[in-house]
Amino acid sequence: MRVPFLDLRLHHEPLQAELQTAIQEVIESGAFAGGPFVARFEEDFADFCQTRFAVGVGSGTEALWLTLLAYGIGTGDEVITVPSTFMATVEAISFCGAQPVFVDIDERTYTLDPQLLERAITARTKAIIPVHLFGQMADMDPIVEIADRYGLRVIEDACQAHGAEYKGRKAGSIGGAGCYSFYPGKNLGALGEAGAVVTNDQSLYGKIQTLRDHGQRAKYRHSCIGWNARMDGIQAAVLSLKLRRLAAANEARQAHAALYDKLLAGEPRVIRPAVAPQNVHVYHIYAVRVRERNEVLRRMADRGVNCSIHYPVPIHLQKAYSFLGLGPGSFPVAERCAQELLSLPMYPELRSEQVEFVVDTLRASLA
Ligand SMILES: Cc1ncc(COP(=O)(O)O)c(C=O)c1O
Repeated sequence: MRVPFLDLRLHHEPLQAELQTAIQEVIESGAFAGGPFVARFEEDFADFCQTRFAVGVGSGTEALWLTLLAYGIGTGDEVITVPSTFMATVEAISFCGAQPVFVDIDERTYTLDPQLLERAITARTKAIIPVHLFGQMADMDPIVEIADRYGLRVIEDACQAHGAEYKGRKAGSIGGAGCYSFYPGKNLGALGEAGAVVTNDQSLYGKIQTLRDHGQRAKYRHSCIGWNARMDGIQAAVLSLKLRRLAAANEARQAHAALYDKLLAGEPRVIRPAVAPQNVHVYHIYAVRVRERNEVLRRMADRGVNCSIHYPVPIHLQKAYSFLGLGPGSFPVAERCAQELLSLPMYPELRSEQVEFVVDTLRASLA
């Protein structure tokens, strides 16, 4: 048996006819950049996220960047986030001219540790970006409480958390804004690049709508310097169609996670993902922790199971951020997790026999 890390072909196979009809509709309408298909998806996605507004943009990276810009964050400002994330979270801060400041993660949930947050705040801090890593939301109540006390913005990086909940509230609906990616491998994935910002803040919504379209609200009337960050009509039509199946797909992921959990229970060499009691986890990634992770990954690949690593190097140790001068030991939990985390195959179409095979292979590959 072979088990890939992800199988998008299998995911799209049953949707082929509907996808083609949806794409054909966009071709016939000519609404390729922004337009009615994007507006319809924005409405659907805001509903799904329990927010008043959604703005479709070109990627999750642009969603983060434009949100920071719309909040007026720039040179001389500091933005707090975690080192255990995809590069884009931190790049967006840098692209505004602001300085990223890191806070270590909680060892159980791999999300921002609120106990470490307050000491990272300075007079320059303007915003906090908690990252809802792997499909589980950060502990939002204490984060929002501290942010409110210091007058800071909270921007949720929900790029891995489509459908995730915290105390019954959807990812992106708790902070001032939530940023989503629809990169093809996400729980809700486009057939290319796409992203969105969700918010209840009408003024922020208006600013991001303007920024994503060259700073114009009326054609060729530019009220500010913006960018071309519009969502494609074709991606919006595809996303509207796939959004209707997201809840079922997340349930399938949760069932696979439950089976992984059951089969790995009592295995002392494996640390399973922990779900905080207030959270609904949507398992964008099912990551375990093992010793000698790189060896285990290689042995599993030799036996037919492809795993992945999210992420091998925390952002503060990336060459791109060496100018921050944060060496090894700066964020011990993030650094330990970067050495031990191993992402097992996870996608809705995974079969139970495959999950069983992955677990057998993992056991056989452990040190
Ligand atoms: C946590 C996180 N933030 C931001 C992004 C950036 O999203 P995109 O690839 O759509 O630009 C991603 C996705 O790759 C992500 O996983």
